Amino acid sequence: MKPFCFADGEIIESKNATIHPMDLGLIRGYGIFDFFRSVNYKPLFLDHYLDRFITSAEKTYLPLAYNREELKQIIKELTDKNDMEQGGFRMVLSGGLSDNHFSPAKGKLFIFPETLLFPSEEKYSNGIKLLSLDYVRPIADIKTTNYALSVWDSIRWKKEGAEDALYHRDGFVSESSRSNFFIVKEGKVITPNKDILLGITRKHILQLTEKVDIRPVTLSEVFEAEEAFISSTTKILLPVTQIDEHKIGNGKPGPISLDLLEKFKLLEKENSY
Ligand SMILES: Cc1ncc(COP(=O)(O)O)c(C=O)c1O
Repeated sequence: MKPFCFADGEIIESKNATIHPMDLGLIRGYGIFDFFRSVNYKPLFLDHYLDRFITSAEKTYLPLAYNREELKQIIKELTDKNDMEQGGFRMVLSGGLSDNHFSPAKGKLFIFPETLLFPSEEKYSNGIKLLSLDYVRPIADIKTTNYALSVWDSIRWKKEGAEDALYHRDGFVSESSRSNFFIVKEGKVITPNKDILLGITRKHILQLTEKVDIRPVTLSEVFEAEEAFISSTTKILLPVTQIDEHKIGNGKPGPISLDLLEKFKLLEKENSY
């Protein structure tokens, strides 16, 4: 956590930010958030993240008291005040204090700048293992703060030597707990089309290659894939080399995955200088 955050309509010391214990965020797990990275003092793909945050607020019936330009101004002030050359920004809008302790109310907006650590080099060079779990995130297209099942399951997937989960239902895969999921087959990058959060990293990765197929993906074809990877703001692109007891491809990060990672890094450079 960086020294200064935005809370209660102003920039304050992060350690002094508070929320009421009866806020729906706490008693019902109802709230939304978004998370973007800043590189070279510049928020990367900021408009995409603000689009998603503003849409999440609308879809969850939570009034957002600030417009896009005001949010950008707050982010700029936080960048200056924290001398934030790089790191993450977490925007959170809570469910608010509700008369009946249930209906969405007027929530509190927080913007927290954070120190950000990428996964270890070893994970990029060896790939990671996912544990397949039968689950679909509720209202998956909205970036809600409800990660209860994933937080709970994380103890189990760690015990099984996995880095994260691969969610599936009725034979179709959707995403990982905090990342989108892709496979590569016959040179084509394939990613599920529903029951997912529309990741900003996913969106940019899909623009880096012409051989793309966005469609339902079965768990059994995942086991037969040549390559697999996950994408997210905090990981960019991480190769997946094992799912449960199945090795993916030859068990090593694949050339298309690694090429896309390099291309994303170039895109990031172009957009942050
Ligand atoms: C459930 C879920 N899917 C996908 C993603 C990846 O989205 P993005 O690339 O915008 O970080 C996230 C990010 O937190 C997530 O929570």
